[in-house]
Amino acid sequence: MRFDPDKLRSEFPILSTHPGGRPLHYLDNAATAQLPRAVLDAVSRHETESRANVARGVHILAERASMAYEDARGAMARYLNAASPDEIAFTQGTTAAINIAAQGLGAGFKPGDEVVLSELEHHSNIVPWQLLRDRTGIVLRVLPVTDDGRIDLSALDRVLTKRCKLVALAHASNVTGAVTDVARVVEAARAVGARVLLDGAQAVPHGPIDVQALGIDLYALSGHKMFAPNGIGVLWGRQEVLAQMPPVFGGGGMIRHVTFDATTYADPPKRFEPGTPPIAQAVGLGAAARWIEALDRESVVAHELRLTGRMLNGLAGIAGTRIIGPTGLQARRGVVSFALEGVHPHDLCQWVNDRFGVALRGGHHCAEPLMRRFGLDGTSRASLAPYNTDADIDALLEGVADARRHLA
Ligand code: ALA
Repeated sequence: MRFDPDKLRSEFPILSTHPGGRPLHYLDNAATAQLPRAVLDAVSRHETESRANVARGVHILAERASMAYEDARGAMARYLNAASPDEIAFTQGTTAAINIAAQGLGAGFKPGDEVVLSELEHHSNIVPWQLLRDRTGIVLRVLPVTDDGRIDLSALDRVLTKRCKLVALAHASNVTGAVTDVARVVEAARAVGARVLLDGAQAVPHGPIDVQALGIDLYALSGHKMFAPNGIGVLWGRQEVLAQMPPVFGGGGMIRHVTFDATTYADPPKRFEPGTPPIAQAVGLGAAARWIEALDRESVVAHELRLTGRMLNGLAGIAGTRIIGPTGLQARRGVVSFALEGVHPHDLCQWVNDRFGVALRGGHHCAEPLMRRFGLDGTSRASLAPYNTDADIDALLEGVADARRHLA
């Protein structure tokens, strides 16, 4: 079916609301993407027809809920091309997934072992490793960032040593939009016997991921950035990697047997899913994965690239703007960060919201080391989804030009 962004837009009820009394130009998709009717309906249907706890009861609703939850796991296994649904652990989101990976893998690390990160990581792929470092004495090493906002992979040889146990990087940057050359990272990591974890939060909304083809070990993602509800995410891990990780949180559902002397644990993924999980949210995530899979990928990619090009060219044409990230369209997502000389990002975001109905994010984007790299306190950021249109880009460019006239 031909891709029509206006038609797609009509699947998202919130996009035809008029918050603040004007049409909404929603360009904050890297923070939270909106929900299509297919996902809203799947969640609503689940809550009205199948709501119960999972893996605990034998009544009809418990059985329906358990089936729906495992069906969502299957949908995510397909979306990521995992070898088995058992490689999909549901978590609260990317942050929880990376914390579980850090504590789980970290149980096997020794003082002096190294974890390699990059200067453009989101705090959720920095702080969990710092917590681990402070407990265990591992060493964190950091790949620098190029002037155009990419991880500088020419530093891999220097930064990866024989002591490196893990390379943990963003698949795509939430600030610059740059997509990481994973093949190069995996090759360098394997050469020193290290594993690879990707923070996929900004990559997964743009289409199915093939974790097997990527050749990585662990992948973390959030539902709310891929058109699914909040409070759900995934830690994918190769079976043998997850099997080596001890549980991080304890409770019901993650055990085999409990005595006061010793408790034995369930196999992954249940080992990492203690307590009652976010069931309806998982159902929503499965529905979102199917919804994305049904899109005409080639047309969506072409559409987003064209709009990204319009943003980059349009912003470059406004005096005083500086793009933080790649200015070309190669290996980048539709996430465009920029600084406007003499205008604080919060003031700019407020201005375009109040006068043009444009929703951006302004600030450090949970990436303070990256801001420091570019000598900034923050940037303004516009981020695309397939439902964005030329009208959104027109409003953005008009709004930024207007902010410059009034605020700079
Ligand atoms: N990580 C999200 C963002 O980049 C919240 O906005």
